[in-house]
Amino acid sequence: MVKEIWINEILSGQYDDQEVELKGWIHRSRGSNKIRFIVIRDSTGHIQCVGKREVLGDEFFDELKGSLIESSVTLKGIVRSTDREHGHEVQISSGAIVGSVNPDRPFPITESAMAEADGGETEFLLDNRHLYLRTSRMTTMLKIRSSVFGAVHSYFRDRDFIEYQAPNFVSGAVEGGSTLFEVPYFGRKDVYLTQSWQLYAEAAMPALERLYTMAPSFRAEKSRTRRHLTEFWHAEMEIAWATNNEVMKHGEGVVRHIASTLLDERSDELLSLGRDLELVSRYADNSYPIMRYDEAIEILQSKDVDVDWGQDLDFSKEKILTADFEVPHFLTHYPKIAKPFYHRQDPDDQKYVLCHDLLAPEGYGEIIGGGERTWSEKEILERLDEEGTPKEPYEFYIDTRRYGGVPHGGFGLGVDRVCTWLSGADHIREVIPFPRDSRRVTP
Ligand code: 4AD
Ligand code: MG
Repeated sequence: MVKEIWINEILSGQYDDQEVELKGWIHRSRGSNKIRFIVIRDSTGHIQCVGKREVLGDEFFDELKGSLIESSVTLKGIVRSTDREHGHEVQISSGAIVGSVNPDRPFPITESAMAEADGGETEFLLDNRHLYLRTSRMTTMLKIRSSVFGAVHSYFRDRDFIEYQAPNFVSGAVEGGSTLFEVPYFGRKDVYLTQSWQLYAEAAMPALERLYTMAPSFRAEKSRTRRHLTEFWHAEMEIAWATNNEVMKHGEGVVRHIASTLLDERSDELLSLGRDLELVSRYADNSYPIMRYDEAIEILQSKDVDVDWGQDLDFSKEKILTADFEVPHFLTHYPKIAKPFYHRQDPDDQKYVLCHDLLAPEGYGEIIGGGERTWSEKEILERLDEEGTPKEPYEFYIDTRRYGGVPHGGFGLGVDRVCTWLSGADHIREVIPFPRDSRRVTP
């Protein structure tokens, strides 16, 4: 049953005038009672196959003719180069239907079903997500996504970072209580799904010094926006002996590496989505400017945006701010009141913390949040007290400081957000196989 020949190889011409065995799914089928033109799809492309009654015999010809879209098949035949749509076609000599589709229950995703769908096309496609994955748009997104994951791993591994895993059940917030998911845990009331790997990474920082992960993080985000999921994939790194600027260099480095990896591996896919490759090259080839939070507030105020110093910037504001950016920009030195306890105060002016967000251009906004950590025991205890946060769940975290604390920092990158931005998608749910938001946990 092993599959040896893939449609993209046939389309490259390497099998012209040879016999091949195709394995795939029926994408389209038309023709007469004597000849059928069947487009077969596999994970690598589409190719037209031609079946004639006189060659196939009545039994298989009729079976093929009666087979509905998404039936799976194996087909043998000779490859010919043609001047039709795909440049090559297969003249079928024999074959078999492997998994047929019941005519009482045809493949539901059709243009007319989408047009008629109650609740609109988007909800219809989300309800049928498990089948929508087979369409070329989703396949393309998933291939781009895979290259983004690969690029994150290669960036960190090539620089001697150790991949490290943290628990997903936790008993304290990282990013504030408002987006914590409580989980029933054997009758306990203080167990949550993790918002970030960070605190547990800091515990391992004195052991590994350079570490990273890619794992799901969870946020109980009630608002449904085009950049929020309740379960998202988080690429995070932590590094010992590093300042905010050194952490930012890695943020820039990994994002530029992702962009250049996509150009190497996925140019065709990006083009098929209508993405301008010049933009992606620009994000790969240029360095990213650094701007202080205060400067961003001034820019926004000069554009008559209603924003006060001290507020965190939400999507509506980042969208305006980044609309004119040519490349991603770092925003540093947020007011202490806008950020959680773990951010280190700026020794030069304690109103601020030594942190950064990386904002993607074209209105996409925040893709990275990170900075230098509060690393002395005294300061972390003060910061927890200031916030009124109970210390008990953080005892392990405070221990990192009690036993040989060192300056360190790190960041978290929203992998789904980076996929959305680099593919030019309108909505974060386009780039993840089964998006989760406040309303949807099915299919
Ligand atoms: O800015 P955030 O909340 O920072 C942290 O979680 C830090 N503890 C990370 C660290 O320093 N290790 O989240 C980091 C990134 C954001 O910049 C964003 O890209 C992504 O995670 N993110 C989300 N992506 C999709 N849906 C959501 N609900 C997200 N929340 C954050
Ligand atoms: Mg953030």
